[in-house]
Amino acid sequence: MADMKKLYIKTYGCQMNVYDSERMVEALGGQGYEEVDTPDQADMILLNTCHIREKAAEKVYSELGRFKTLKAENPDLKIGVAGCVAQAEGQEIIRRQPLVDLVVGPQSYHRLAEMEEIIRKGKRALDTDFPEEDKFEKLKARPKAKRGPTAFLTVQEGCDKFCAFCVVPYTRGAEVSRPVSQVLTEARDLVERGVREITLLGQNVNAYHGEGDGGAWSLAQLIWALNDVDGLERIRFTTSHPNDMTDDLIAAHGECEKLMPYLHLPVQSGSDKILKRMNRSHTAESYLRLIERFREARPDILISGDFIVGFPEETEADFNDTMSLIEEVKYGQAYSFKYSTRPGTPAAERALVDDQEATERLYRLQALIAQQQKDIQDAMVGQNVKVLFEKPGREPGQMVGKSAHLHAVHVTADGIELGDIKEIRIVESRRNSLAGTVI
Ligand code: SAH
Ligand code: SF4
Ligand code: F3S
Repeated sequence: MADMKKLYIKTYGCQMNVYDSERMVEALGGQGYEEVDTPDQADMILLNTCHIREKAAEKVYSELGRFKTLKAENPDLKIGVAGCVAQAEGQEIIRRQPLVDLVVGPQSYHRLAEMEEIIRKGKRALDTDFPEEDKFEKLKARPKAKRGPTAFLTVQEGCDKFCAFCVVPYTRGAEVSRPVSQVLTEARDLVERGVREITLLGQNVNAYHGEGDGGAWSLAQLIWALNDVDGLERIRFTTSHPNDMTDDLIAAHGECEKLMPYLHLPVQSGSDKILKRMNRSHTAESYLRLIERFREARPDILISGDFIVGFPEETEADFNDTMSLIEEVKYGQAYSFKYSTRPGTPAAERALVDDQEATERLYRLQALIAQQQKDIQDAMVGQNVKVLFEKPGREPGQMVGKSAHLHAVHVTADGIELGDIKEIRIVESRRNSLAGTVI
């Protein structure tokens, strides 16, 4: 529509932010905005920020500074900061950066429409409360716009774990689960709009305990209910915590048809000493035992994880324990980070490991994971896998999709439509993807 205002939204951080950005686009859609791909012609720019990496706030301030010329050209341009840096910095952003009109924390997105009206009148708006009302209920998707074949669906938010290095419990607040009926309604709605695969999101998604028939439901119960949704073909979930793993969720991987053979289970370290100092409250052994049980339930399950190297007091021996754990698990994929200080967290007080040493450990760990990833990918060559096609590839006639194990698969063939699930013969293993042909 010609008279729609233009919204440019830039999303950083985890999938939860991706999901939140979609909700914000919908909320502002009601205020007459449509999303655009570049900031140049925008009437509103929103940065949906992440606070997990070092100097995250400083990077946001410098990014904001770059909008100065745009605002000079268009004084009506509104600039907003959302997400976890907004939550952490709050008022400070308003104080430090006069370009900013709006600061909204992740728990307040349902108030975005009202806030937009305030800033239209030339005032500035700040909301970083943890309100009582249910933001999801208020944010219910308005239009029945068509969607791509895959979607995220937040079922649980916040975290009570307080790992010594992590800001999430402070930026996202206490753990809350959405009621079962709400999740199912949203899932059915997504399916009606063309979605065939749903990834359930939560900071501790396996701690899910949403209100359902007969009391609180586990994540596994929720997955079983989703398994009955016609038209939904694939279910995934992320991210799990080892301490919240339940027998029914492990069993579901062997029994639930639509649940994909993939588990993202961060361990962070393979040293019990470091795990204790991280306040992780699981051990390397208890983690390995869990992986074993998943493999008993679903032998081909692909394991993914998160690692932090160079956590305070990590010695070479501690690091080698992490390497041994990796050797034992054999990861199909993993995220790894050099520890960096997050102000306000317990570990921020502790002495750092020598930076060069930490960097060198990170490279060693990443080389090992890359080798494991490659071995697992290479073993797929010659196998037939089912691929859900998500987008066109870079080459003409090429389509890209994901296998059940979440490998990206490139196929060049006629007649593949977005959302198709096709049986594909894997013919080649590339750096971060597979190539295949239609059978
Ligand atoms: N809730 C999830 C993920 C949270 S953040 C979980 O518990 O696994 C994603 C990842 O960022 C973490 O798993 C951790 O590996 C990394 N991370 C968090 N804080 C960090 C820090 N201070 N330094 C380095 N990596 C960090
Ligand atoms: Fe952060 Fe730990 Fe909570 Fe994950 S479980 S969000 S790492 S505090
Ligand atoms: Fe980042 Fe917030 Fe997600 S800190 S990782 S965007 S919960």
